[in-house]
Amino acid sequence: ELPCTLREFSEATGLPVQSVQRTLMGLGQMVTINATLDAETAELLCAEHGIDLKIKEPESIEDTLLNQIDDMVDSDEDLVERPPVVTFLGHVDHGKTSLLDKIIGLNVVSGEAGGITQHIRAYIVDKGDKKISFVDTPGHEAFTEMRARGANVTDIAVLIVAADDGVMPQTEEAISHAKAANVPIIVALNKMDVPGANPDKALQQLSQHGLLPAEWGGDVEVVKTSAMTGEGVDTLLETILLTSEIHEYKANPNRQAVGVCLEAEQESDRGVLAKLIVNNGTLKVGDVVVCGSTFGRIKAMYDTLNPRVRLEEAPPSTPINVTGFDEAPAAGERFYVLNDIADAREIAEMRSHRSREQQLGGHTVKISFEDFQAR
Ligand code: GTP
Ligand code: MG
Repeated sequence: ELPCTLREFSEATGLPVQSVQRTLMGLGQMVTINATLDAETAELLCAEHGIDLKIKEPESIEDTLLNQIDDMVDSDEDLVERPPVVTFLGHVDHGKTSLLDKIIGLNVVSGEAGGITQHIRAYIVDKGDKKISFVDTPGHEAFTEMRARGANVTDIAVLIVAADDGVMPQTEEAISHAKAANVPIIVALNKMDVPGANPDKALQQLSQHGLLPAEWGGDVEVVKTSAMTGEGVDTLLETILLTSEIHEYKANPNRQAVGVCLEAEQESDRGVLAKLIVNNGTLKVGDVVVCGSTFGRIKAMYDTLNPRVRLEEAPPSTPINVTGFDEAPAAGERFYVLNDIADAREIAEMRSHRSREQQLGGHTVKISFEDFQAR
């Protein structure tokens, strides 16, 4: 590790102190045994004495703490079944929000500005004695990032395709997000009640995109639904639970939580409100969290379906809204629970410092590249 003293350098390389001093003297430098050598000097010295130099970067607290958490392996006896996280993806207006509304008996659609989803919604619902966690994404082309984020936290992708419209650009994009995330895809062929519905045409198009329906001998479950009449909604839930059973999603509720920030915003009265989803562990009020370049202590936790219901803790796969972050974390960032708020602050500050540096640095590089091209 550098910088180090001449004594430490000598110990690490096996070069006698005197001979190093002699070399440095030859370079016009008188140094004592306790003098500090920087990386450049050490490189020079090693080159001079024919030694291979390996400089060990000092490990940052970010690396040590967060890597440790990422590397934690839960033992089998700690693992219990957790609800699947299911993301609704698809083209704009194909009925993602309406279907989810039907499932939870809500009516979110009618309250949406222009009928277009502009947020990532996430709810956990009961189905018999099981739970399913749903993430609804916008289909509008402007929201590629949000669909990608949805696909990233998901166990199962439900691709909603309107039977009267078929495969459209954001359907194709959703397929590639789901494939990139390497998760099972269930197709909901929606709007079956609409007179112009042409399910066979849609199935044909899906096959062309590598999703061969089970009824045609493939391995993709296709459920015909209508968010209007409720047709197929139960079958869709059963298909989700069956897929979930096959994959046996598990987590360890008895560890500190890790998860992802779905979105966050600065609210005038409550401070920062962040929508998180827990991947593993249990998130509790009072926990210290770091998320990207923000940190805080969870002050309050709210149910996403009933925003007035306060929760004390959130087990694996649960989406929640929380307050307590110093600033709004960037959507898509992973969050970690740490023991010490000083560590969380240090990591957050280091990261925001680094991203500022990169922004400045990136600018310089760009200029020199253009200069280079201009020549
Ligand atoms: P974005 O969030 O904007 O991508 O749209 P979405 O996929 O969430 O679609 P949404 O649920 O907002 O539905 C769009 C329109 O289609 C609404 O007017 C719904 O009432 C209507 N709709 C959705 N599903 C059905 C269905 O099964 N049958 C009929 N007839 N109409 C539906
Ligand atoms: Mg929607």
